[in-house]
Amino acid sequence: MRTTTFDVYNSATHELLATLDNATDADIEAAISAASLRLHQPTTGQERHDMLLALRERMADNSSTFATLISQESGKTYNDALAEVHYANGYLTWFSQLALTLDSPFESSEGIELWREPVGVVGAITPWNFPCAMIVRKLAAAIAAGCPFVVKPSELTPLSALQVVEYTQLAGWDEGWLAVLVSDQSAAVGHVLTSDTRVAKFTFTGSTRVGKLLNVQCAASLKRVSMELGGNAPLLVMADADVEFAAQQCVLNKQRVSGQTCVAINRIYVAAAVEAEFVAALHAEVHRLRTGDPLDETTEVGHMIHLDAATKIHSMVEQAVAQGADVVLGGVHSAGSAFYPHTILRKVKHDDDLVCNEIFGPLYPIIKVSGDVDEMIRLANDTQAGLAAYVFSQNQDTLNQCKRRCNYGMIGLNSAIISNPEAPFGGIKQSGFGREGGNVGLDDFTSVKYIKPA
Ligand code: SIN
Repeated sequence: MRTTTFDVYNSATHELLATLDNATDADIEAAISAASLRLHQPTTGQERHDMLLALRERMADNSSTFATLISQESGKTYNDALAEVHYANGYLTWFSQLALTLDSPFESSEGIELWREPVGVVGAITPWNFPCAMIVRKLAAAIAAGCPFVVKPSELTPLSALQVVEYTQLAGWDEGWLAVLVSDQSAAVGHVLTSDTRVAKFTFTGSTRVGKLLNVQCAASLKRVSMELGGNAPLLVMADADVEFAAQQCVLNKQRVSGQTCVAINRIYVAAAVEAEFVAALHAEVHRLRTGDPLDETTEVGHMIHLDAATKIHSMVEQAVAQGADVVLGGVHSAGSAFYPHTILRKVKHDDDLVCNEIFGPLYPIIKVSGDVDEMIRLANDTQAGLAAYVFSQNQDTLNQCKRRCNYGMIGLNSAIISNPEAPFGGIKQSGFGREGGNVGLDDFTSVKYIKPA
């Protein structure tokens, strides 16, 4: 790999933030060697619990500075970035508790003793939409389990990743636990992390297309793999839903990173009986959102990650209009800007391109349907994705039916904000496999060892 540099820009202003050296072959080798050495120096769960809490303290002490950097790199608002730091800290708290559970067998019956052991060195590739939390969520699980962690963050947001390293140093972490490989040569670094036999587990958050390639690369060395991939989340607004509340939740969901999350609502099926009421409520909610400088604490709408993303979203809107949709609000893009307004589209159809593809932006495609629960569930399941779905109804039987029959890894009932360190995050079908967080959060980072006691 050549020694080269790459530039990091402020998403909103396009100002140059930094020029960084690409990780060299020697850097990658040093990172994996240090991680392998660290793996063989045993630690207790209590020690790793303390490491995680020390990191949490450093991040909490510096949350405002960190949020500013995250906002600059990613274009999300300062408040959204601050929420991300708190979200990440929630994983540190959660996994610090789980670390303690590894100091004793998790099952001990006559003739059988079962321990959870670290799976080994973990390699990771993380995305730009949560430049802190997507690293910390994986890192916290790995450290709790006793697995040293080598990560390649997105080249769009490497400074946040380097900031995490700095906080681990301030927290007194020993060498070898965490290495961050910054590079814009993603495929090359990814190739090493997925093929080096010293890396026992590989974890990726990103697109389904790239996840599939990385998964194939991992197969040759039989790595443990977890993949947190794209979604196509439906929002079902039943005829008996609290329509105003559904609209509020919908906007809160889309405000996170301007809809650039894999659990962002992608298609909104509304029962005909309440469609007009829902559109009016959504319009009111979106209309009151404050736009402005992402770093201003009163700003509620962030920028897209870059100009190309905003341009792509605008072309999706144009295509939807060409397919018969009406723009109710928004839909105007200023040339040369990475800002895209929250945009409500009505008269969208289930088989329109907008509905079939992951939007990753602040669009609200509304599809008016009869309101029959079976039809809603069928439409919700009519996708290759299986990450998150949301259902709004005031009828418990309807909610019960949806929660069992909708094929998703995560379902929000009368809630469109589901991300929570205490719950397992992950999908099924083409949205990937493996779970991050929750009581099962160590499963992907540990192996079960069976001892037959003497
Ligand atoms: C993601 O978009 O990849 C993660 C979203 C979340 O953790 O809520």
